[in-house]
Amino acid sequence: MIFAAGSSDNSAVQNEPSNLYDQTVEQIRQYVEYLRDEGTRELELDAESARRLLNKTPAVAPKPVPPSAKPMQTSPPPPRVAAPPAQPTINAVEAEKALREVAKRVSVCTLCPLHQTRTKTVPGQGSSHPEIMFIGEGPGADEDQQGLAFVGKAGQLLTKIVEAMGFKRDEVFIGNIVKCRPPDNRVPLPDEMTACLPYLKEQIALLQPKVIVALGATAVKGLLNTQTGITKLRGQWMSYQGIDLMPTYHPAYLLRNPDGKRDVWEDMKAVLEHLGRTPPPVKKQ
Ligand code: URA
Repeated sequence: MIFAAGSSDNSAVQNEPSNLYDQTVEQIRQYVEYLRDEGTRELELDAESARRLLNKTPAVAPKPVPPSAKPMQTSPPPPRVAAPPAQPTINAVEAEKALREVAKRVSVCTLCPLHQTRTKTVPGQGSSHPEIMFIGEGPGADEDQQGLAFVGKAGQLLTKIVEAMGFKRDEVFIGNIVKCRPPDNRVPLPDEMTACLPYLKEQIALLQPKVIVALGATAVKGLLNTQTGITKLRGQWMSYQGIDLMPTYHPAYLLRNPDGKRDVWEDMKAVLEHLGRTPPPVKKQ
């Protein structure tokens, strides 16, 4: 990964006001942390970015650089620096702000062909400091119209599951592997998932959920890159970006196969136990 001095991204940032510059540096810092968590041990950075990222000093807005004074493309290669040390977890207010930034970037994303057919992007929604993050496959027709994850029939069932666990919907975070609706609700293609995954990784790093619940085969495949089917994997603890992950059936599958609800409830009880919680008493109708 190269953050090149004088790249178009960098020069755009340098001409912005200092708060936007600070936000961008903060986002890059968080991204560097994901890379580190994923095993990257070296980055190429220009000296000024490295100083800011490593020191995390409040930025003084750099003066706009007149085009003639910009470094030439032939400048020497930037120094190699080690990934920065672990930073304290960011607070909920910062996380909320950064999540909005992610959603803003998603709203103008053109990284895969799904942007051509979407109505609205669906970045996901919910608490910015959830105990549980649910990750589904991708938006359907209702989600595409509203820009919100899991608001159709499958979403209503997911709401029931969340509430049966003793949470309100806005106390968890609900998102998807891809942020744009695949035409005719087809399964997202591997390239589409790969293009979209960095957004999800950013969200996970900001949300820091205690548990991820991967809903269905596509979510599991997209996150864990496994060919093993959901029937085998459901109910077994896994890990993603250092966060405990429980695979279970997708609510849409449960609508077609209600018998699977029993398995999902077993999985959700395991999640609650993991969180030191017990399911609330069942309300009499
Ligand atoms: N199915 C999903 O996987 N995600 C949604 O948001 C809706 C239905």
